[in-house]
Amino acid sequence: MFRIGSLDIGFPVVQAALSGYSDLPMRRVARLQGAVYALNEVVLDQLVLTKGKKQRALIRVAADDHPVGGQLMGAEPASFALAADALVAAGYDCLDLNFGCPVRKVLGRCRGGFLLSQPATALAIVREVHAAVAGRCPLTVKMRRGMDDSPESEHYFFKILEGVFEIGVDAVTVHPRTVGQRYVGRSDWRFLARVKRHVGDRIVLGSGDLFSAEDCLRMIEQTRVDGVTVARGCIGNPWIFAEIRALLAGKPLPVPPTVAEQGITIRRHYDWAVETYGPLVAGKVMRKFGIKYSELHPMDRQVRDAFIAVAKPGDWQAVLDQWYDPAKAWPPGVRRTGPGHLIAAGAEDRGGPGAADATPEVRRED
Ligand SMILES: Cc1cc2nc3c(=O)[nH]c(=O)nc-3n(C[C@H](O)[C@H](O)[C@H](O)COP(=O)(O)O)c2cc1C
Repeated sequence: MFRIGSLDIGFPVVQAALSGYSDLPMRRVARLQGAVYALNEVVLDQLVLTKGKKQRALIRVAADDHPVGGQLMGAEPASFALAADALVAAGYDCLDLNFGCPVRKVLGRCRGGFLLSQPATALAIVREVHAAVAGRCPLTVKMRRGMDDSPESEHYFFKILEGVFEIGVDAVTVHPRTVGQRYVGRSDWRFLARVKRHVGDRIVLGSGDLFSAEDCLRMIEQTRVDGVTVARGCIGNPWIFAEIRALLAGKPLPVPPTVAEQGITIRRHYDWAVETYGPLVAGKVMRKFGIKYSELHPMDRQVRDAFIAVAKPGDWQAVLDQWYDPAKAWPPGVRRTGPGHLIAAGAEDRGGPGAADATPEVRRED
């Protein structure tokens, strides 16, 4: 049974924090398909501390959105701790600290992955946040495997890893790419196995290159991590959670969702986005999801183009009516087994948290 501190999750598969994606509608859709614990996208501590309407919307937790993790990013222990306190008060069930973001702007501001090069500051942050949270919810840390491939970087990684568990962190999620690597090249699962061996019975979650249900089971089997966090693999593909559940139960993979089933989920996702953002913003937010959903459609290219062309709320409905008409006899749905259109995410630096929405192939990075 899978737990993170006092949080009894059961299902050892987490929906990862995904900047620009893992909002309330995406988390709801993931839970429809069997996800239990899902993380909000990373939030800057200073934004959490800037009181106002925007801040309230940023940290609001809906009654049906549990258990949910709030992830924080920042550079200074004191503001990290104050923001952590605010997130716990807002109702998050778990707090996660981001020591992994590889975006240049973030690194330049001494946040995210940069902290992997500053073990003393990283541990001071964890210490202050741990004191601020004061046992009200579990505390976790997300790390890449270092800034780069140098022995010094690796030394710092293990120093931080050991330090955070000593302070009392309940779990660590490791994405075994370096900050310098961004998303280029494969993530190093052997490193994950080393981390798990190193910390024994402490809880380690693995991240990186989890694009299918089989990938998730393989990571658990090969590295012995306690759980996995699905990231790019679940954007526009919430069915991956049901597929993992089937495999974990010793059942065969379910057939990929039919076009009609896909349509039902996309409509619900869209309705929740409208409820969350209003129709105008929802249209923009949903376009990037539509592009990802299109990869499961047998006419993926045309559907993708149709989602890209969406300009106003009515267009959205028209795409669903045309391409997800349940009355039509569609060929079978397609199973996605790779990163799809997000393959290049992070390969180049076109922005960072806050920089999504610019193009149809929107992406942000951790
Ligand atoms: C678009 C995008 C946004 C991301 N946002 C975050 C984030 O807010 N916080 C975080 O810890 N990781 C973030 N990540 C990293 C993922 O959680 C995950 O660690 C990484 O994508 C590796 O897993 P994958 O190869 O299975 O996608 C993001 C990744 C992508 C592609």
